[in-house]
Amino acid sequence: MANICVIGGAGYVGLTTGACFADLGNTVVGLDINRERVAQLEKGILPIYEPGLEELVQRNVAAGRLRFTTEYSEALAEAEFAFITVDTPSSFDGGADLNSLRSAAEQIAQAMRKPLIIVNKSTVPVGAGDLVTTIVDQNRLDDVYFQVVSNPEFLREGSAVRDCLNPDRIILGSADRGAAERVAKLYETLNAPIMITDLRTAEMIKYASNSFLATKISFINEIAAMCEQLGADVKEVARGMGQDKRIGSAFLDAGVGWGGSCFPKDVRALEYMAATHGCHPQLLRAVMDINRDARRRLVQRVREALGGALDGKRVAVLGLSFKENTDDMRDAPSLTVIHQMQNEGAKVVAFDPVAARHAPRLLPHTEIAVSAYEAARGADALVILTAWNEFKQLDLERVKVLMATPLIVDGRNIYDASRMADLGFQYLSVGRPTASISLAEFVG
Ligand code: UDX
Ligand code: UDX
Repeated sequence: MANICVIGGAGYVGLTTGACFADLGNTVVGLDINRERVAQLEKGILPIYEPGLEELVQRNVAAGRLRFTTEYSEALAEAEFAFITVDTPSSFDGGADLNSLRSAAEQIAQAMRKPLIIVNKSTVPVGAGDLVTTIVDQNRLDDVYFQVVSNPEFLREGSAVRDCLNPDRIILGSADRGAAERVAKLYETLNAPIMITDLRTAEMIKYASNSFLATKISFINEIAAMCEQLGADVKEVARGMGQDKRIGSAFLDAGVGWGGSCFPKDVRALEYMAATHGCHPQLLRAVMDINRDARRRLVQRVREALGGALDGKRVAVLGLSFKENTDDMRDAPSLTVIHQMQNEGAKVVAFDPVAARHAPRLLPHTEIAVSAYEAARGADALVILTAWNEFKQLDLERVKVLMATPLIVDGRNIYDASRMADLGFQYLSVGRPTASISLAEFVG
C-alpha cells in the first residue's frame, strides 16, 4: 500500500480520487488551498454533492486512511505519489487557464523532500506535463528525484465513485516507463486494462475522448432536429443505431445539449489548441455550434408554443444542474435557457432537488420553488432541463391541475409522448414528432 497525496483534494475529482485510493487501502492526504472546504471535511461534511461519496469519505477518515490539510509540507511529508487534481477552467480566449496547475507544481517542488512521482489528473493542454516537469525542476530546493506521469480522469459527476472504482481503462503517460508502471500498481486491484504511453499522447486521449462524446451528443441532436421536421422519433433512431456495436448506445440521448465542468471547456480548449497550431478544427466548431443551437431551439419552442412571445408569461423550470445526480451548475443549460427567457420578459420559477442552493448566486433574478409542484402552480409552460428521477415520477395529473396552461417542453425526453397526450398535455420533446405529417409531402 502506498502513501498518496492529492492536490486539490477537496474538489470533485480530488475528493473522489482520494477517497477511492484510501478505500483501496492506501494512506491518503487531501491537500486543498480552500480552508473552508478542508474545515468542513475535517468535520465529515462534504463541500459537494456526489452520491455515495460522503459515506466513503467518512468511513476512510474513521479508519485513519484519509485526512485533509492546507499545508503542502504536511501533505508531502510521507508521500510517494502526488496526484494533481486542481481545476483548469477556460481562460478568456478558450484556452485552458493553467494558473492553478502552475501554482500546484511550484508548491510541490518547494515542499518535496523525498523521491516523488507527480501524477497529473487535471485536464491540461497537450504539453502541460512537460511544463510541470520544468516548473518542478526549476523550483525544487534539493536535488530531490521526481518523475511526472499523466493519468487523465474519466469519471462522471453523479456516478463518480462507481466510475473511479470501475474504470473502462487506465491511461498513463510518461517519459519514464518505470514511473508509469509504479502508478499502474496503484490500480492493479481494479482489474481494468492499463495503457502506458507518452505524456502528450495521454493528455490528448483525454481531450479526444471528451470531444468525441460531445460530438456523439451533438450528432444525435442534429438528427433530432431533422426528426422533428420529418416525423421520425429520435429515441427509436438512437436505439436502432446503438445496437450496432460499432456505434454503441451510450451518449445518444438527444436533448437540450451538453454542459458541465468538462465538455464545454474541453471541446473549446481542443479547438483552441488546434487553431493555434495551424490546424483547422471544423468538426469541433460545428459540435459547439449545434450545442448552442440546442439551447436556443428549446427557448424557441417554448416561445412558439406560447403564441410567439414570452413577455409576461410564467415559466416553470425543472432542473438546474447540468445533469441529474449532481448539484453542479457549471455551464448548465439552465443558465442559458433561463437568462434567454428572462431577457424576453418571462417570469421564471425554478426547482431543483439539489442544485437550488446555488441559485441565489448564479440566478439571482429567478424565483426558486420548494417543490416541482410549487414551481408548476400557475405556470403557462413547464420546461424540463435535467433528467432527475424525481421528475420522472411526478404526479402529472396534479401538475396539470396546478398549471395555468398544460404545456410541457421537455429538454430531456423523460416522458412517454402518447401518455402525455392521454393526460391532456401539449407535450413538446426533442426529436420526437408532435403531429402526424403527410407522407405525400415526401414522396417523389
Ligand atoms: C477537475 C480538474 O481535474 C479539471 O482539470 C477537470 O477538467 C475537471 O475536474 P474539479 O475537480 O471539477 O476539476 O474542480 P473543483 O471541484 O473546482 O476542484 C478543484 C480543487 O482544487 C478546489 O477545491 C480548489 O480549492 C483546489 N485548488 C485549486 C488547490 O488546492 N490548489 C490550487 O492551487 C488551486
Ligand atoms: C464528462 C465525461 O463523461 C467524463 O468521462 C469526464 O471525466 C468528465 O466529463 P460529466 O461532465 O460529469 O463527465 O457528465 P456526462 O455524463 O458525460 O454528461 C455531460 C453532459 O452531456 C451533461 O450535460 C449531460 O446531460 C449531457 N448528455 C450526456 C446528453 O445530453 N446526452 C447524452 O446522451 C449523454
